[in-house]
Amino acid sequence: DIQLKQLFVSTDDYTGKEIIIRGWVRTNRSSNKFGFVEINDGSYFKSVQVVYEEAFISNFDEIAKAPISAALCVTGELVLTPESKQPFEIKAREVIVEAGSHADYPLQKKRHSLEFLREIAHLRPRSNTFSAVFRVRSLVAYAIHQFFQENNFVYVHTPIITGSDAEGAGEMFRVTTLDLDKLPRAESGKIDYSQDFFGKETNLTVSGQLEAETFALAFRNVYTFGPTFRAENSNTARHASEFWMIEPEVAFADIHDNMALAESMIKYIINYTLEHALEEMKFFNEFIDKGLLDRLNNIVSNDFARVTYTEAVDILSKAEKEFQFPVKWGIDLQTEHERYLTEEIYRKPVFVTDYPKEIKAFYMRLNEDGKTVAAMDLLVPGVGEIIGGSQREERYDHLVNRINELGLNEQDYWWYLDLRKYGGVKHAGYGLGFERIIMYITGMSNIRDVLPFPRTPKTAEF
Ligand code: 4AD
Ligand code: MG
Repeated sequence: DIQLKQLFVSTDDYTGKEIIIRGWVRTNRSSNKFGFVEINDGSYFKSVQVVYEEAFISNFDEIAKAPISAALCVTGELVLTPESKQPFEIKAREVIVEAGSHADYPLQKKRHSLEFLREIAHLRPRSNTFSAVFRVRSLVAYAIHQFFQENNFVYVHTPIITGSDAEGAGEMFRVTTLDLDKLPRAESGKIDYSQDFFGKETNLTVSGQLEAETFALAFRNVYTFGPTFRAENSNTARHASEFWMIEPEVAFADIHDNMALAESMIKYIINYTLEHALEEMKFFNEFIDKGLLDRLNNIVSNDFARVTYTEAVDILSKAEKEFQFPVKWGIDLQTEHERYLTEEIYRKPVFVTDYPKEIKAFYMRLNEDGKTVAAMDLLVPGVGEIIGGSQREERYDHLVNRINELGLNEQDYWWYLDLRKYGGVKHAGYGLGFERIIMYITGMSNIRDVLPFPRTPKTAEF
């Protein structure tokens, strides 16, 4: 049999020929003599129309009754239809029902709300919207690998079970065993959960950064791309407990090299998607987010903005708008502030740099002013922060001071400190939230709708 994608990209090769296709019913209508069934096999975003006639197929009544989501195998001729919306259709000679379906199939031919579709995560990949989202997700993952591989980066698989808290924020899920006999007990008889991973305390990783740094100081250019976990109980449209992150790390690079890399990566990803998923992108532009294509085309052909945190606070405090969270130097920027900067002031992606050290992680490089660190966040209209990164503190004494100042345990970071002792050059890196870039590219506004099986404080159905 032939997959629909082949028919759509090489229609000429099949015109006038007899072919076999398989797929699931999307719509089916018929009169006494004629029927039209649209089928889709998932290999392409569009469906193909099959015309079946009582005069040519022996089981006309059976096919006329085939419900949505039944699977058919069709043998027939590909005929061009230049006068209609679809470029071609199939005139059936034989149709076989490969799998039936039930009349209570939830995805009937009408618009379903995204909330409803979230409740049937096992069926929603069959809907147009999710067919488009998850194909784009797959393509973007591929584009990211291609970008880094073309630029001579080594892909490093950092561990999922880890003993260190990369962000020092304590937002970790503990790893434990269900076999209670394996856990040590205190003298009171109480189980000691801090010893649960064969005598060690371990967690699910919040970021592969610290391990990626070890590889950057060996391979110069590296990246991770894997699942990360955060135990923050924030029920927002852009936070998940399990999400994927891309983390490049580059030796001999400073914060400016870091921003240049991030900007060219984002543009590469968008160009790749526009080139390889045009049908899906046109669908998003029409049904999810009008103006999306224009906006993406603008992003790839213009420079991103750059502003320091101090300048940003200045802009925000002079704004006409009343913010719910008052703005003053030292605060963490809230969603409303990020939105104002990206949507009202810059109207394009903007790097905010040099944040106060108090609101950023321990590993960021202290600036000359002694107050700010060489951090860079990339904020974009609609989504907010999609990248968080920095130049790393490569000076041994500064790093030890910061770890102690924050009350972190120096011993836990012994190997991380070693990197500063042995050829510890300047280096920088960032983390791109994979779901956030998918939201940005597709116009989907809830992170639950770009994750195949979302894990959030309120959803974990499967
Ligand atoms: O800003 P974050 O916390 O930075 C780090 O983890 C660094 N270690 C990255 C690095 O420098 N290598 O997270 C990076 C990005 C955020 O900008 C955001 O896009 C995404 O990860 N992110 C989340 N995405 C979904 N759900 C969550 N709960 C997220 N938390 C962070
Ligand atoms: Mg961040």
